[in-house]
Amino acid sequence: MKILAIVGSFRKGGNTDLITDRILEGARSQGAHTEKVFIDDLKIASCQGCMECRKEGVCHQQDDVSALVKKIEAADGVIFGSPIYGNYITGQAKMLLDRLMGVINKTVFVPGTGPTKVTRLETKPRNVVILMTIGADRPECADDPLKLLRRMLGSFTNGGTVEEFIAAGLIDQGQVAMDVPALTDIARRLHRTPNPEEEALAMKSRNEEILGKAFQTGVKLTKF
Ligand SMILES: Cc1cc2nc3c(=O)[nH]c(=O)nc-3n(C[C@H](O)[C@H](O)[C@H](O)COP(=O)(O)O)c2cc1C
Repeated sequence: MKILAIVGSFRKGGNTDLITDRILEGARSQGAHTEKVFIDDLKIASCQGCMECRKEGVCHQQDDVSALVKKIEAADGVIFGSPIYGNYITGQAKMLLDRLMGVINKTVFVPGTGPTKVTRLETKPRNVVILMTIGADRPECADDPLKLLRRMLGSFTNGGTVEEFIAAGLIDQGQVAMDVPALTDIARRLHRTPNPEEEALAMKSRNEEILGKAFQTGVKLTKF
């Protein structure tokens, strides 16, 4: 079983990266082979809007997109993770999705419709995890990109599951795995709370919950 993670964060060791690692760890515990790709490490030009891909699903730009499409096609599970930037996914993550739209699907995505059954990828079951990390303690910050991601990634599941993993209240790099003294500093600096030590303990416990859930999400990703 192959699990592919596509990470749309710029920060290696950031929250999206660390949660992705934990999901992959869960998948590996079930015997899966895993691969993690940072979009920022790939050579990906922006879509030129030529609409050629709408015909046969082929993009004529020569860069890393076609190899990535092959990896998505071969995968039994796909994790797509991005931090929320300005209430959406990162620019590079959106740029990749624009390049994938006509290549993985035959039609565009219409709001209000469910996952389309128009994939160009081999129609085998794939499980999908959509991972969004958010600075504010407000999961609804992910609502807008989720509308696109559910339709677009849901289109190639072929009976597999789409799991949404929203991790809110994470601002600093690697905050999800920080120890209590570092979290105390964040509570003091960012939250200006009267009792930073107490808040740090609460943050630590919430982070452990997030990482535990991530591992279980990885386990589930391997089940069909
Ligand atoms: C340019 C930029 C824009 C951001 N916009 C938002 C936002 O609109 N809402 C929010 O809650 N957090 C926002 N954040 C915070 C990130 O979502 C948060 O720090 C996240 O944990 C980063 O994930 P990473 O560690 O994987 O990079 C923004 C961060 C950056 C750098």
